[in-house]
Amino acid sequence: MSRIIAVCNQKGGVGKTTTALNLAAYLASFGKTTLLIDIDPQGNSTSGIGVDKHAITNSIYNVLIDRKPIGDAIVQTAVQNLWLAPSNVDLTGFEIEAINNPAKEYMLKSAIEGIRDAYEFIIIDSPPSLGLLTINALTAIESVLIPIQCEYYALEGLSQLLNVITLVRQRLNNELRIEGVLLTMADYRTRLTTEVINEVKRYFDSDEGSLMVGGRNKVYRTVISRSVRLSEAPGFGKPIFIYDKNSIGAKQYFELAKEVLGEAAAGPADISNNNRIKDLQALAQQGVIDTDIRIETETKKIEDENILPL
Ligand SMILES: Nc1ncnc2c1ncn2[C@@H]1O[C@H](COP(=O)(O)OP(=O)(O)O)[C@@H](O)[C@H]1O
Ligand SMILES: [Mg+2]
Repeated sequence: MSRIIAVCNQKGGVGKTTTALNLAAYLASFGKTTLLIDIDPQGNSTSGIGVDKHAITNSIYNVLIDRKPIGDAIVQTAVQNLWLAPSNVDLTGFEIEAINNPAKEYMLKSAIEGIRDAYEFIIIDSPPSLGLLTINALTAIESVLIPIQCEYYALEGLSQLLNVITLVRQRLNNELRIEGVLLTMADYRTRLTTEVINEVKRYFDSDEGSLMVGGRNKVYRTVISRSVRLSEAPGFGKPIFIYDKNSIGAKQYFELAKEVLGEAAAGPADISNNNRIKDLQALAQQGVIDTDIRIETETKKIEDENILPL
C-alpha cells in the first residue's frame, strides 16, 4: 500500500515545491520507492530534481488530457529510488481542456490507479491555485501537507483552503485528511517568525482550526528555516541532501521526512530558545550571519526575551 500525499497551498512562494521535492528525495534516500508527481504548469519540481522541462516526451499533461499511461511519462531521477512524473507549460491548458469531461475531478486519480501500489510513497506538488488541478490532487490522495510561510498574513487564505478540503472530503474523497501543517522560511532573527508560529499553533489548537482539520496537533514539530542553500539547490537540479547535506535545510527536511514516516517524536512546533540558538549558529556557518559576535548578541537577545518553549 502506498501513501499518497499532496503538498497544497493556493499561495505561491510558500515552499510547496521545495517541500515536495525534498521530502520525496529524503523518503527515497531512506530506501522507500517514491514517485514525485509535478502537477504545476511551472514545472519547478521537474527542473528542481534535474529533469529538463523542455526535453520531456510525455508529461503529466499527456497523461491527463491525451490519456497516455502514466508509465510512459515517469522518468527515473538521479536520486536512487526516486521517480518523477514531470510537468511543463503544456499543463496551463488543462482547466479549459478538461472542462467537458464528466469525471474531470477524478482524472489524476484514474491516471495513477494502475501504478499506485508500485510505490511506497507518492508525493504530489500542486500549483498555486484552488482550481481543477488542485481539486484533482485532493481527490486522488489520502492526505494533504500544507506549508505555511512565516510571514505577515500567514493565515490569510488558510480558511479558504480548509473549506475546499472539507468540500472535497464531503463530495469527492471521504478518505481525505490533513497530513500536517509545515512552517517554512522561519527566520528566528525576527520576532515575526515566533509570532507567526504561535499564531498558527493557536489557530490549529482552537475549536475552529481543529474542527476544520479533524484533529489537533497537526503542526509539525520540525520548522523549516529560511536558508540560502535551500533556495540555491533547485538551480543545480539537486535536492538539498545532495547539494549540501550538512546545511540546516538538509537537517530540517531530514527531520520532516522522519516525522512523516512516524519515526520522530511528535510534539509541538519546536521554537525553544535552544533551537533558535542552534539555528543562528547554523546560519553563521553558512555565512548568512557574519561573525560570532553577531551570534552572541542575537543569542543574548533571545535569552533576554525569555520566550518559553511551546
Ligand atoms: N526554507 C527556505 N529558505 C530559503 N528559500 C526558500 C525556502 N523554501 C523555499 N525557498 C525559495 O523560495 C521560493 C519559493 O519556494 P517554492 O518552494 O518554489 O514555493 P511554491 O512552490 O509554494 O511556490 C523558491 O525560490 C525557493 O527556492
Ligand atoms: Mg511550486
